[in-house]
Amino acid sequence: MTTIMHQTDFGDWVRQHGARIEDWLAHHLPGQDRVPGRLHEAMRYSALGGGKRMRPLLAYAAGELAGAAPEQVDVVAGAVELIHAYSLVHDDMPCMDDDVLRRGRPTCHVQFNEPTALLVGDSLQTLAFELLARLPVCTDARQQLRLIALLAEASGANGMAGGQAFDLASVQSALTLPELESMHQRKTGALIRAAILLGAGCGDGVDDPTLEALDHFAKAAGLAFQVIDDVLDAEADTATLGKTAGKDAADGKPTYVSLLGLRDARSLANELYSRALGALDPLGPSAGRLRELAAFIVERRH
Ligand code: IPE
Ligand code: IPE
Ligand code: MG
Ligand code: MG
Ligand code: MG
Repeated sequence: MTTIMHQTDFGDWVRQHGARIEDWLAHHLPGQDRVPGRLHEAMRYSALGGGKRMRPLLAYAAGELAGAAPEQVDVVAGAVELIHAYSLVHDDMPCMDDDVLRRGRPTCHVQFNEPTALLVGDSLQTLAFELLARLPVCTDARQQLRLIALLAEASGANGMAGGQAFDLASVQSALTLPELESMHQRKTGALIRAAILLGAGCGDGVDDPTLEALDHFAKAAGLAFQVIDDVLDAEADTATLGKTAGKDAADGKPTYVSLLGLRDARSLANELYSRALGALDPLGPSAGRLRELAAFIVERRH
């Protein structure tokens, strides 16, 4: 018997899940009518109404592999996006990258002020963990605790925050390729990996071989994401990016473009894309969404 699969078109799937996470975040972020209203307003400003929502999309796609319905994945998708939004607010502050434009709008510290931006980061981060601890995600509560630990590890000194420390310490210095890879794996790769592994941990989760395949995929896709971020910083314009173009070179940041040049940086992204697809081979057609998202990561224009 032939089964006809009615797969939603990728563009529609992205729009549906993008709208879904927007609604979830809007519902769970504190209302600006509650005190401290200005802080709540700044949290909503920073987390709502923009961004590609790549990490939630990866979580939903991995959740599909675990047989989890989108409503079972909302919490992990939202928690990872809250951490990401916090990381962007802090990344843009004058003590870090000193950027004035984010997602096509003034950065949080420009629109509000620096102390507010600092507290927005703190509050988005703690909200992520509060929701992940409070709302049901997994059938097994111990598994949920493991997911909380995984997100904490990906966000902290051994993950995103540690990568950001390397990034700031490396200004105007020439890193070797392995040093750059390690920095990018931490500052960006770790949270992307967490999005995928948390998504796969929803509901009943996946078996160990699937988890291992997803981990290989996540590492390649996460690194590809930052390689393309570096490429776009050099190649695209400010209006398309919604953030200031050419900022890495202006700040003397070591990037894949500064180390390899644009052409080889793009080739590396394509190589990582092939590696990501190869990792999904054992999973067959069920990993179709992840394949589409990997293509989106390397083909995106912003
Ligand atoms: C930008 O991330 C910062 C990096 C970690 C490279 P995104 O490109 O995912 O930013 P948004 O969420 O779409 O704005
Ligand atoms: C930021 O990397 C990574 C984060 C952890 C936020 P970048 O500094 O390159 O991100 P953009 O280019 O400002 O979005
Ligand atoms: Mg930065
Ligand atoms: Mg930056
Ligand atoms: Mg960048």
